Amino acid sequence: MNFTDKTIWITGAASGMGRSVAVEISKSHARLIISDRDVVGLNETAAMVIPHGSEAIVVVLDMSDNQLINDTVQKIVMEVGRIDGLYQFAGISQRSLVVDTPIENDRKIMEINFFGVIALAKAVLPSMIAQGGGQMAVTSSLVGKFGFPYRSAYSASKHALHGYFESLMAENEKHNIRVSILIPGRIQTNISKFALDKDGKEYGKMDAGQANGITAEKAARQICKGLRRENKEVLVGGKELLMLYIRRFLPSLYYKLAVHLKPT
Ligand SMILES: NC(=O)c1ccc[n+]([C@@H]2O[C@H](COP(=O)([O-])OP(=O)(O)OC[C@H]3O[C@@H](n4cnc5c(N)ncnc54)[C@H](OP(=O)(O)O)[C@@H]3O)[C@@H](O)[C@H]2O)c1
Repeated sequence: MNFTDKTIWITGAASGMGRSVAVEISKSHARLIISDRDVVGLNETAAMVIPHGSEAIVVVLDMSDNQLINDTVQKIVMEVGRIDGLYQFAGISQRSLVVDTPIENDRKIMEINFFGVIALAKAVLPSMIAQGGGQMAVTSSLVGKFGFPYRSAYSASKHALHGYFESLMAENEKHNIRVSILIPGRIQTNISKFALDKDGKEYGKMDAGQANGITAEKAARQICKGLRRENKEVLVGGKELLMLYIRRFLPSLYYKLAVHLKPT
């Protein structure tokens, strides 16, 4: 995908990787639609893309509201005509043990990280097919490839994205719909601060592991490289990505390590 003069919708664009990807893509002179629930953060992102010669339409959108998602897509498609890229970053994480986590927390995480993501993709897909194609990207995680302590529902929500979007990809290749699944490791963003604890409250801290991760700006460069190449999976991060290969090629070692993994 060449971003120049394309219309690209980025969710979760008020902070972290969504913001950094918006800024990175703005250097290619694209038309951006940036959405999130945080309007202050969105306006900051919009101001950051202007110096690069791109414009950004700011859309306040809560990914847990399916009706709002459908109405917003209808409005945007009427307004801009076409969406060439839909890159989804909005999501929440978790810091709680299975034994302590009420099912309401599990449902909330699935609602945003899975149902919200597929609702937006389903709402955009018909117009992408009608216009002759487009690119979708969704943000999984390393823990979308294997289980991890304190992340049960989060890990499940990210695993679910792989099954869903690989199926969407297989059904829609004939319509020129390209799908990239982003798999970040540890990236320095606010994701752990806003993660749900066992009481459904904000965890409030950045994990030590995450603080040692790569910056959101570096992650955005890796992501945009993968999106330009239309890679089906895009690994994002540093040495922590090794765990993916351990899980794939040495599963018994992963099972041994998993019980000793430091969750924060
Ligand atoms: N950072 C990592 O190490 C890492 C690793 C693997 C995967 N990921 C994934 O990467 C994606 C981006 O996260 P990030 O690391 O860039 O963290 P982030 O800075 O916290 O970005 C997540 C964004 O999603 C937004 N969001 C949360 N719930 C929402 C909702 N209901 N409706 C609309 N927007 C909502 C947040 O807005 P608010 O500020 O309003 O909450 C925030 O702007 C997430 O899907 C995350 O799971 C991150």
